[in-house]
Amino acid sequence: MNTIKACVNPRLLTKADRLFTGTLSGRIIEILQNARRAGATKVVINNQDGLVIVRDNGQGIEDFAKLLDLGGSGWEDALEVSEDPAGVGLFCLTPRKVTIRSNGRMVTIEAECWTGQPADVRDYPQPRSGTILQFADEPWTREIVERHAVFCGMQVIVDDQSCPSENFVSDSAAHHPELGCRIEVRADKDLSDWHRRVRTDRYYGPNVLVNFHGQTVSFDYRPVSERDLCIQVDLTGEPTGIRLMLPARTRLVENETYKQLLAAIELEVYRYILRRGHHTLTYKEFLRAQELGVQLPEAKPTYTIGLIRSDMAPEPVELAAPKDFPLSECYRMSAELLKSDDFVETNAHLLAALGTFVAPFIPVSIQHSYDGYSWANLPTIDRVEVSFGKELHSDYLWSGQLVCVDHIVITAHTSNGKTFSSSVCMGIHRPPPERDTKWSEERVLVTPECRERLSACEIWFHLGGWSEDGDTYDTQEFEFSEALDRFWAELIGPDENLRRQLVRETDQIEPEWHTVTITSKGDVTIHFADGATKTLQSPSSSKE
Ligand SMILES: Nc1ncnc2c1ncn2[C@@H]1O[C@H](COP(=O)(O)OP(=O)(O)OP(=O)(O)O)[C@@H](O)[C@H]1O
Ligand SMILES: [Mg+2]
Repeated sequence: MNTIKACVNPRLLTKADRLFTGTLSGRIIEILQNARRAGATKVVINNQDGLVIVRDNGQGIEDFAKLLDLGGSGWEDALEVSEDPAGVGLFCLTPRKVTIRSNGRMVTIEAECWTGQPADVRDYPQPRSGTILQFADEPWTREIVERHAVFCGMQVIVDDQSCPSENFVSDSAAHHPELGCRIEVRADKDLSDWHRRVRTDRYYGPNVLVNFHGQTVSFDYRPVSERDLCIQVDLTGEPTGIRLMLPARTRLVENETYKQLLAAIELEVYRYILRRGHHTLTYKEFLRAQELGVQLPEAKPTYTIGLIRSDMAPEPVELAAPKDFPLSECYRMSAELLKSDDFVETNAHLLAALGTFVAPFIPVSIQHSYDGYSWANLPTIDRVEVSFGKELHSDYLWSGQLVCVDHIVITAHTSNGKTFSSSVCMGIHRPPPERDTKWSEERVLVTPECRERLSACEIWFHLGGWSEDGDTYDTQEFEFSEALDRFWAELIGPDENLRRQLVRETDQIEPEWHTVTITSKGDVTIHFADGATKTLQSPSSSKE
């Protein structure tokens, strides 16, 4: 039998430079972190002749060997527990030549020292507290340093200029000692500009921002349907199981504590909503809050007036409720009825929008996710009927059939025993299916009155509306209006279209005129209002 055992192969050292992404930001984060871990309150950064010099006022380096110990750390025990250092940070400077001075000693780490060659630690007589690092790098400008310094809690000075400093969370953040962090929920709009920068995208980025003593990461977690809540998590320095993924430390490890963190965030989100005092959460979320011990008020009544809402252009006929009309006197479509026919909802809407009533008839639509709230429990529309008179004219228009009838009546029966019935100028009718098929095509019914009362768009909505695949909206709208004009003209009589076409062409005649005659040869005579006459001869007749 032979045994095997985990070990670190020294070859890893030769690849240490690839443990990091190689970005300037990455180096700034690591070096600031070491200074903070050494207890520094101030870090002074200077850019000089292609060199970067970083001085901190921390406790200094005790064991220089730890600097080149990949995987080994020299921090105190408490820090080991709270921050779980990995002993790799300094290797972000590989393969640079780095001079480090601290506690009366100094070392120069040459390129080959990063991969295993020894480096001499010598005395450095100038007494000075803290640690100084010096290495070649592109300039560590204040602009780049400040975003990594703002939440680190130390004073950071770049080339004599102080970086801004801000608390990551306010005093009202909720302390979760079991997770070693404080959690604060905020509305997106209340985020500070510095917090926004933590997100990958400043406005639409992930909503959970975590601060590891200056190093920040973000991820997305939205326990409730409200989209504009942001959660700030600030590590306190207490022992914690929240871990950054190594070596880049740009995201959290999804371990057991991470799950507890998500649970804590969910709870804090509900508590935040409770403190705010109002919400539009679904009923399921309302119950979930209750389960977590957070007794929320009911959601703010959330509904749209007018049943047919679609993203499709154009808009349907608008239905406006009288001012301050109580929701409790509105109606919802019954779920069964909705399933039975696509057009009951449309007809109920048209009845409400175009009909006349003694008391208002206002159908509203409420998302089913709100079922359960007392305000969502409205009387329902249980049956909708459409009856109509003699057919006057019919044609295929755009993507459907338009039929003009001499009158239309829509009637709705509600669950509280009421009947709303009115003449309307538009409705949808689906004839009974033909034998052998289950399918029949719906017809858009209009009365002659519709021509004056409704805009072309309000009719267009029911005949397919704008199609993405076709021309621009304006062009399609124009084409539909023209087709609808022809429909109305044909309703009046077969000659009406010709008459309109001829009259339309006289539009361009100026000045004022009273008679135009036209011969079959194409000669035109215009009699103007002032008595003058002008004859326009066709080129062919003038040649004869
Ligand atoms: N500014 C400093 N002041 C005092 N000691 C330091 C400083 N920078 C580095 N050290 C010492 O060098 C060791 C190695 O630092 P390095 O950044 O490589 O690893 P680490 O900080 O322990 O772990 P991590 O991988 O999380 O950064 C530290 O553990 C510490 O003992
Ligand atoms: Mg470090």
